[in-house]
Amino acid sequence: MRISVIGTGYLGATHAACLAEMGFEVIGMDTDPAKVAALAEGRLPFHEPALPELLRKHVQSGRLRFTTSMAETAAFANVHFLAVGTPQASEDGTADVSQIDGALRALLAHVDQDALVIGKSTVPVGTARRLASMAKKLARPGTTVELAWNPEFLREGYAVKDTLAPDRLVFGTDSGTGLPILRNVYATALAAGTPLVETDFETAELVKVAANAFLATKISFINAFAEITEVAGGDITTLADAIGMDERIGRRFLNAGVGFGGGCLPKDIRALQARTRELGLGNTMDFLASVDALNLRRRDKVVELVELALTGSGARPQVAILGASFKPESDDVRDSPALDVAARLHERGFAVSVFDPIARHSAAQRRPELDYPETIEGAVAGADAVVLLTEWRQFRELVPGDLDALVRRRNIIDGRNVLDAAQWLDGGWNFWQLGRKPAD
Ligand code: UGA
Repeated sequence: MRISVIGTGYLGATHAACLAEMGFEVIGMDTDPAKVAALAEGRLPFHEPALPELLRKHVQSGRLRFTTSMAETAAFANVHFLAVGTPQASEDGTADVSQIDGALRALLAHVDQDALVIGKSTVPVGTARRLASMAKKLARPGTTVELAWNPEFLREGYAVKDTLAPDRLVFGTDSGTGLPILRNVYATALAAGTPLVETDFETAELVKVAANAFLATKISFINAFAEITEVAGGDITTLADAIGMDERIGRRFLNAGVGFGGGCLPKDIRALQARTRELGLGNTMDFLASVDALNLRRRDKVVELVELALTGSGARPQVAILGASFKPESDDVRDSPALDVAARLHERGFAVSVFDPIARHSAAQRRPELDYPETIEGAVAGADAVVLLTEWRQFRELVPGDLDALVRRRNIIDGRNVLDAAQWLDGGWNFWQLGRKPAD
């Protein structure tokens, strides 16, 4: 079977390489010539563990190729995955589906054989049914183009594993059309026992947004308790451990800290609220506005703690920010809490230097006003406060002796609750964490 993947961003490039790994002949299509040129040479334009090897392997074997031509894509395959972006369109959070509409339209203009188009992007409920009727209307006479929806649940940093061995597969179809092809595409994962949910378009679309909304809610839920323990006392990590021991709750995604960011969770909870309003269900998803607000308040809290730590420190205190990506094992800085806090501190007149082991380049592109030393030592040298905001392993393993001789003042704010408080306090540092009442 020959397969195309339209849109070779994070999701599409991963999916294309993994399909090649599953044994298919794959073409990746993108309108961005620079991206296509890099991928065609086996170069991945972003950081993702294990993906560069897979990409190189299959570009070299000839099983995976890339193009900017929709005509070539339509001629190459009769199974097409749509993996283009659905960014936030406006202030109110509505998702911009123009790329997905545009990709399907462009494909239909070239398709002259029966084809199955499988949507992967995260979309507002109702999109698949609308696209299915668009395909019916615009397909060339004599050709049938069917739609199916197969949402993606991969996490950055684990994209290859999540694609080759997902927690579950969801196939959304209109009365089962396209199911045999979908089962064929994912035969390897299904044979290995991956649970499969076969359902309608709307459920498939909603499974994805519901999963992300639930994850975001879990994080803000524990962060709401962090606001309580900051005032009332108590230990937020022990609280998370204890409630997480109840299997109905589970411990994962209960790490309190500076909160969630990235290209998915924040935009998806806003798009879901906007879509719910469009459906005339004004209040149904109102709680997600609180989830969002709580999440953003955690960033304010870190800014406040830095200001508190550096009260009376003289002109232009120096702050070293550890981490720029929205989470470890990624160079993605979209809506990154770390970079947002860094930029806000810079605006407030602090001298800010940011160190990230991988995201230095993407961070510098997004926030060129900040300093990006090449080493952690360079970032921390002469600092009046050190602020850990992305829990890269090398930061989690820091001990006071690593920084003692470098900093000007021994102030550290752990925005991810990953450092051992006792160790830093014993080492003579002023130490703050989120969800921890400041020492009297
Ligand atoms: C998320 C979902 O986890 C994936 O299942 C989904 O496929 C993807 O969005 C998507 O829609 O494409 P991702 O954005 O890669 O994946 O990142 P997550 O691992 O979910 O982390 C999101 C944010 O939450 C990060 O900023 C992370 O630091 C934060 N987080 C996570 C916490 O603050 N606390 C936690 O306990 C867990």
